[in-house]
Amino acid sequence: MSENKVCAVVLAAGQGTRMKSALPKVLHKIAGRPMVCHLLATVDELNAEKAVVVVGPNMERVAEAVAPHAVAVQHKQQGTGDAVKAAREHLAGFKGSVLVLYGDTPLVKRETLQEMIRLRENGAAVVVLGFEPADPARYGRLIVKDGELERIVEYKDATESERAVRLCNSGVMCLDGERLAGWLDRLTNDNAAGEYYLTDLVAMARADGCKAAAIKCDEEEVAGANSRADLAMIEKIAQCRLREKFLAQGVTMTDPDTVWFSYDTVLGRDVTIEPSVIFETGCVVEDDVEIKGFCHFEGTHIRKGAKVGPFARLRPESDVGENCHIGDFVEIKKSVIESGAKVNHLSYIGDARVGAKTNIGAGTITCNYDGYFKSKTDIGAGAFIGSNTIIVAPCKIGDGALTAAGSVITKDVEPDAMAVARGKQTALAGWAEKFREQKKALKDKLSKKG
Ligand code: UD1
Ligand code: CA
Repeated sequence: MSENKVCAVVLAAGQGTRMKSALPKVLHKIAGRPMVCHLLATVDELNAEKAVVVVGPNMERVAEAVAPHAVAVQHKQQGTGDAVKAAREHLAGFKGSVLVLYGDTPLVKRETLQEMIRLRENGAAVVVLGFEPADPARYGRLIVKDGELERIVEYKDATESERAVRLCNSGVMCLDGERLAGWLDRLTNDNAAGEYYLTDLVAMARADGCKAAAIKCDEEEVAGANSRADLAMIEKIAQCRLREKFLAQGVTMTDPDTVWFSYDTVLGRDVTIEPSVIFETGCVVEDDVEIKGFCHFEGTHIRKGAKVGPFARLRPESDVGENCHIGDFVEIKKSVIESGAKVNHLSYIGDARVGAKTNIGAGTITCNYDGYFKSKTDIGAGAFIGSNTIIVAPCKIGDGALTAAGSVITKDVEPDAMAVARGKQTALAGWAEKFREQKKALKDKLSKKG
């Protein structure tokens, strides 16, 4: 049984100096998730028995981010072969396929890894993922003869004719777990970089009479992040994939290039999204929802048939009910808006419940924070909150109640009551006209003098 199993080793000990960041490189996010976690999610989809992330010293943050996956510490960075050695005790006795992945190369597809595992299980002791980049630069070159992978030569060690080879090493490998420990013992650092090259395993396997194979993928799939510019490029690729997925799934986007998703965004069928909308992590949008332009969502659930935006900001723990309308310049945080309710213009609703079919007038604010504590607002069903109502929480407004426009509501309102809390209006007849005459006369006098 165990022969057909998979373990993964993710190399992530590199500091990533060129990122110019206090954050370890592999924790930089793509589509809202650290790069290394993208890889671990892909590995999990393969039902891998185990994944070990190789980190450098003082990378506790990586260990935290990848938990419950194991980490192995590589104390001194002496090359990719040495990095895999650092994970060796986690692989003791393992006889299946060992996948080696790079923590900074997050877009490798599950299907590609499955193909590599298949080739390994069918007899290759080493399978390498190659690609033909537009600029082969300083990548290791795959030396293939008569359809078989013979060895990998690092750029620094390569001859001119080897450098002319276009097929490059992505770094992703699938290795025979039973032989791996023995091969790692035999690695030397007798090369131009003075490093233990994992790539030397190919020639070693061949010398042992084993088969080695290479497969090829698109350059995009193995794009690595060495700098912020690379990170932005990888983000673009990840976003394109997400957009394609949603379009294929029955989502309408008028300008997909301007809509940004997170890795975990969930969209139903017949959702329509206008330009310039951002989904941060934790968003679920049900069927038939209409999202107008320039909205920003995070940790939000939008239920069937709701209409949202333009310019709406839905923050974590917002739950917008079926057929609700959320309009322009409305911010909602940690609130449940029950079905059919409307919050159409210029409002802040935080730590609140808004009952079904209630109408929240323009400019309504729930004052949920006194500088020390957050308090709740509870508005019943079928209520009518007049424009520019200020509700000072904690406050409860009953079903069917009404608040007069411009009220500052500080006490609970009974169901079906009308609450008015504002200065009484008085009008002084002729006052304005008299005022204008006085002011005009004064101005004329002063200008004559001057
Ligand atoms: C390596 C390959 C090269 C390939 C290239 C693809 C070797 C010897 N060379 O090059 O053939 O074309 O990747 O990008 O394998 N790492 C550690 N510990 C170390 C060294 C590296 O964890 O001691 C990690 C890095 O964090 C990174 C990955 O391994 O995630 C690759 O390291 P990097 O130095 O970028 O690889 P190269 O040697 O340039
Ligand atoms: Ca690299």
